[in-house]
Amino acid sequence: MAKILDGKFLRDKIIENLKNKVNSLKIKPGLAVVLIGDNPASQVYVKNKILACHKIGFYSEQILLSVKASKDEIFSHLERLNKSTKIHGILVQYPLPDYLSYLEKEINEFINPQKDVDCFNPINVGKMFLSKSNDEKIFFPCTPKGIITLLKHYQIDISGKKAVIVGRSNLVGKPAAFMLCNEGATVTVAHSKTKNLFEVASQADILVVAVGKKNFIKKEAVKKDAVVIDVGINRDGKNIYGDIDYNDVFEKPSYITPVPGGVGPMTIASLMENVFLGYEIQMR
Ligand code: GUN
Repeated sequence: MAKILDGKFLRDKIIENLKNKVNSLKIKPGLAVVLIGDNPASQVYVKNKILACHKIGFYSEQILLSVKASKDEIFSHLERLNKSTKIHGILVQYPLPDYLSYLEKEINEFINPQKDVDCFNPINVGKMFLSKSNDEKIFFPCTPKGIITLLKHYQIDISGKKAVIVGRSNLVGKPAAFMLCNEGATVTVAHSKTKNLFEVASQADILVVAVGKKNFIKKEAVKKDAVVIDVGINRDGKNIYGDIDYNDVFEKPSYITPVPGGVGPMTIASLMENVFLGYEIQMR
């Protein structure tokens, strides 16, 4: 039977640590979150990010732009935030509304690399590529960083393990692959074009699933005693489901992340750590 990797517990611990560090600071670390449009899931994520800032004592700004926001309007906000001495981290919540999605690359390149708490600017992506995940001076993207923090907290060895990541997004799959590889795992990235995907997944000692499909992975795709990490947040009515069919697979893994309460809270904890890192970099 699987042990639970409790992301909520660890998030609260990380938030408490940051709160103690921030307490004595005169100038507080600051995060700006930009939300364009009215995607309900994004509204919830942004609310949770701002709430975490309040809990720690970070300064925060929410920039809520209409779905009809112009390119000029978006970039003039980003320019101000890039220059603001109150702001040490900038995050533009994705996905952008469809008709603005062509701007994603330009936005990532425009955000001041020292404030790029998402680690989406190509300069920071390059640094991540070249670094071990225990390098405390560089940004790592929040979800993969949270996954590695969770594995380390539960003293789960990564080095020498076979890791399979299902999903190849820039947000999670690709950076998770680099980071696990840099930790000594033998990494396979499987995705929608992979032949025999479930068989590939079933060979993993560490299985990370980030495809955005409710209950996509069943027990046949999970090796006995694997460590199973579910990145999915799939809303169906009032409920949230992971990419892994939790009840179906539960007897097989040694460890599993619940949804909700696993990777989601760790993403927020990592974001807060990155805001603090941005502060340290800029106050040097
Ligand atoms: N949308 C879903 N996850 C994320 C994230 O980590 N950062 C941003 N900016 N948008 C997201």
